[in-house]
Amino acid sequence: MKILVSLQLCLLFSLLFVVTINAQDEANYMSQLLKALTPTPSVKLWPSSSLSGTLPNLTYIDLHNNSLTGSLPSMFALFSLETIYLGHNNFTSIPGHCFQLLLGMQTLNLSNNLNLKPWLFPEAEDLGYSELMHTLDLEATNILGPLPSDVFDWFPRLHTVSLSHNNIRGTLPLSLGKSVVRFLSQAWLNNNAFTGTIPNMSNSTHLFDLQLHSNGLIGLVPSSLFSLPSLTNISLDNNNLEGPIPMFHKRVKATWESNNFCRSNVGPCDPQVMVMLEIFAALGHPEFSRIKGNDVCTDGVFLRCRRGKIVSVDFRGQYLNGAISPAFSNLTSLVNLTLTNNNFTGSIPKSLTTLPQLQLLDVSRNNLSGQIPKFSSKVKLITRGNAFLGLNVSRQGEGEKAAASRNGGPSKTKVLIPLWIVEITNTDHQAILNFDFLL
Ligand SMILES: *[C@@H]1O[C@H](CO)[C@@H](O)[C@H](O)[C@H]1NC(C)=O
Ligand SMILES: *[C@@H]1O[C@H](CO)[C@@H](O)[C@H](O)[C@H]1NC(C)=O
Ligand SMILES: *[C@@H]1O[C@H](CO)[C@@H](O)[C@H](O)[C@H]1NC(C)=O
Ligand SMILES: *[C@@H]1O[C@H](CO)[C@@H](O)[C@H](O)[C@H]1NC(C)=O
Ligand SMILES: *[C@@H]1O[C@H](CO)[C@@H](O)[C@H](O)[C@H]1NC(C)=O
Ligand SMILES: *[C@@H]1O[C@H](CO)[C@@H](O)[C@H](O)[C@H]1NC(C)=O
Ligand SMILES: *[C@@H]1O[C@H](CO)[C@@H](O)[C@H](O)[C@H]1NC(C)=O
Ligand SMILES: *[C@@H]1O[C@H](CO)[C@@H](O)[C@H](O)[C@H]1NC(C)=O
Ligand SMILES: *[C@@H]1O[C@H](CO)[C@@H](O)[C@H](O)[C@H]1NC(C)=O
Ligand SMILES: *[C@@H]1O[C@H](CO)[C@@H](O)[C@H](O)[C@H]1NC(C)=O
Ligand SMILES: *[C@@H]1O[C@H](CO)[C@@H](O)[C@H](O)[C@H]1NC(C)=O
Ligand SMILES: *[C@@H]1O[C@H](CO)[C@@H](O)[C@H](O)[C@H]1NC(C)=O
Repeated sequence: MKILVSLQLCLLFSLLFVVTINAQDEANYMSQLLKALTPTPSVKLWPSSSLSGTLPNLTYIDLHNNSLTGSLPSMFALFSLETIYLGHNNFTSIPGHCFQLLLGMQTLNLSNNLNLKPWLFPEAEDLGYSELMHTLDLEATNILGPLPSDVFDWFPRLHTVSLSHNNIRGTLPLSLGKSVVRFLSQAWLNNNAFTGTIPNMSNSTHLFDLQLHSNGLIGLVPSSLFSLPSLTNISLDNNNLEGPIPMFHKRVKATWESNNFCRSNVGPCDPQVMVMLEIFAALGHPEFSRIKGNDVCTDGVFLRCRRGKIVSVDFRGQYLNGAISPAFSNLTSLVNLTLTNNNFTGSIPKSLTTLPQLQLLDVSRNNLSGQIPKFSSKVKLITRGNAFLGLNVSRQGEGEKAAASRNGGPSKTKVLIPLWIVEITNTDHQAILNFDFLL
C-alpha cells in the first residue's frame, strides 16, 4: 500500500513536498518528520493528508536519505533555521534565492543529490548572510563554474566544508587560506576541475584534513602546507603539481600520486627545473610550460642546452602575459634570450645584466615599461615595439598615458616620433601598423 502525504508549509515554505512511502516505513517517517519540525506545527498531522501553517521558529530540518524529488523547497528568510539535512535525495532543481536571509543557519547539507540540474554556487547576496555557518556540505550536487573569490570570507566560523565531486572550475579562492577561516578543520575539494596554484594556507592552524585530489592544480606544493600544526590527512593525487615531491611530517597521511613532480622519489629537483618553474609561474603557468621529468634539456622546442646547461630560451610569439622573471639571471650559461612578440609587462629585470654569457636579449614587440638597465656592450639588445619602455609609467590609478614622462629629461612635453613602420598586417577587415618610436 502506498500513502501520499503532502505537506504544504506556508508562504515562506510554500513549495509542495510530495513524499511517497511504504506502509511499513510510515511510522518511522512520521516520527522523523515530527522531530524535524521544531516546534511541531499546530496542525493535525495524522491521519490527515495535508499539513499547513507557518514556520517562524523552525530550526531543524532533517529529511536526508529519502526519495524526495522535484524542486528543493525555498528556505528564503527562515531566520530561525539552523540545520538543514536534505542530502541523499533526488531533488532536481534549486529555486533562486533559496538560501537568502538564512541568518541563523549553521549546517547546510545537500550532499548527494545527483540529479540536480547544474547550478552555480550561490552569490554573496544569497548565502553571504549566513555568518554562523560552520558546516557546508554540497558534495555531489552538480555545482558548475567558479567559486566566488571571497566565498570563505562569508563564513568566519566555517569548520567543515565539502564541495567534492562537482564540476567547479577556476582557482581555489585565496579566501580559503585567510585568517577569517582559521577554524577550518576539514576541507574536501577533491574531484572538481580546480586549476591554478594551492593558496598559502598557513593561517589554517586547525586544518586536519585537506582533500584536493583529482583536480587540475599546478605549481609547487606550497611549503606552508608542510608546517600546518594540525594536519593529519592530505590528498594531492591526480593533479598537475610540479617541483619536488612534498615531504610532510610523519603523522600526516599524504597521497600525491599522478602529478608532474620532477622525480619519482623524494629529493630536490635539478636547479634549472626550479628556475624554469619560477619563470613560468611569473607568466601564470602558460599551457606549454609543462616540464617533463628532471631534465629541462629534453624540451628541445623552447630551450637549447649545451653540456646540460641552458644556452638559449626562445619564447617568441607564445601569447605570454606577465613579467620577465628575475630568475632568468640564475641561468648562468644563457647566451640568447628571445622574448619577442608576446605581451610581457613590467620592466626588464636589472639582474639580467649579470648574465655572464649573454649575447642577445630580444624583448621587442611586448608591453614593457620602466627604465632599461645597462647591459655590457657585447649584449645585442632589441627593445623596439614597447611603447612605454624607457619612460616612467605612473602607478595604478594615476592615468597611465598622461603621467608617462620621459625618464630624466626636462619636463617639457615630448612627442613620440614614428621612426619606421616595422610591420603591416593586412587581413580582409583591418590593417595593423606597428611603429617603432624615436624617443
Ligand atoms: C516563536 O518563538 C518565540 C520566542 O521564542 C515565541 O514568542 C513565539 O510564540 C513562537 N512562535 C510560535 C508560532 O510558536
Ligand atoms: C540510507 O538508508 C539506508 C537504508 O536504511 C541505509 O542503509 C544507508 O546507510 C543510509 N544512507 C545514509 C547516507 O544515511
Ligand atoms: C551530510 O549528510 C549526509 C547524509 O545525507 C551524511 O552522510 C554526511 O556525513 C553529512 N555531511 C557532514 C559534513 O556532516
Ligand atoms: C530521480 O528523479 C528522476 C527524475 O525526476 C527519475 O527519473 C529517477 O528515477 C529518480 N531516481 C531515483 C533513484 O529515485
Ligand atoms: C594570515 O593572518 C594574518 C593576520 O590576520 C594576515 O595578516 C595574513 O595576511 C594572513 N595570511 C594569509 C596568507 O592570508
Ligand atoms: C604565507 O602566509 C604567512 C602568514 O601570512 C606568511 O608569513 C608567509 O610568508 C606566507 N608564505 C608565502 C610563501 O607567501
Ligand atoms: C585520514 O587518515 C586516517 C589515518 O591517518 C584514516 O583512517 C582516515 O580514513 C583518513 N580520512 C580520509 C578522509 O582520508
Ligand atoms: C636564483 O638565484 C638566487 C641568488 O643566488 C637565489 O636566491 C634563488 O633561490 C635562485 N632561484 C632559483 C629558482 O633557483
Ligand atoms: C644566438 O643567436 C645568434 C643570432 O640569432 C645565433 O647565431 C646563435 O647561434 C645563437 N646562439 C645560441 C647559443 O643559441
Ligand atoms: C597584455 O597584458 C595586459 C596586462 O596584463 C592586459 O591588460 C592586456 O589585455 C594584455 N593584452 C593582450 C593582447 O593579451
Ligand atoms: C599594456 O599594458 C597595459 C597595463 O600594463 C594595458 O592596459 C594595455 O592594454 C597593454 N597593451 C596591450 C597592447 O596589451
Ligand atoms: C624616473 O624614475 C626614476 C627612478 O624611479 C627617477 O629617478 C627619475 O627622476 C624619474 N624621472 C622622471 C622624469 O620622473
